[in-house]
Amino acid sequence: MPDLVRLSVSIAKPLFDKLENLVADSQYTNRSEFIRDLVRERLAAEEWDSGAEGLGTITLIYDHHARGLNARLTDLQHDFRGHVLATTHVHLDHHRCAEMIMVLGRAEDIRGLTDAMHRLKGVLLAKLATGSTGKTLT
Ligand code: NI
Repeated sequence: MPDLVRLSVSIAKPLFDKLENLVADSQYTNRSEFIRDLVRERLAAEEWDSGAEGLGTITLIYDHHARGLNARLTDLQHDFRGHVLATTHVHLDHHRCAEMIMVLGRAEDIRGLTDAMHRLKGVLLAKLATGSTGKTLT
């Protein structure tokens, strides 16, 4: 574990009060851990913006009765096979399916895959949630 460094920060009272409310609402047991996690969230976002390899999840909702859609979605995942780590499929009801696709790669490639899925007729939602490989977060 790396050495800990203590710092003091000047912050206006109204903003400090908001910080305290955020810490309390998030049920953190101390302010330091909350602030460490804020920094990690920023670093994770910068991973994606920097062009480094990022880990994320694409949530798809689609109508599986749309003609040829299942085959097109499968083709896209094969085209991006180096980036697709795992896929979970859930049948939501008679018409709609949900898929959670775990992806690893550069933001440009992953956004390209997400947008290509989104453009297909019958896809109701294709939403990328960016995560992190964790390499930059310690
Ligand atoms: Ni299904």
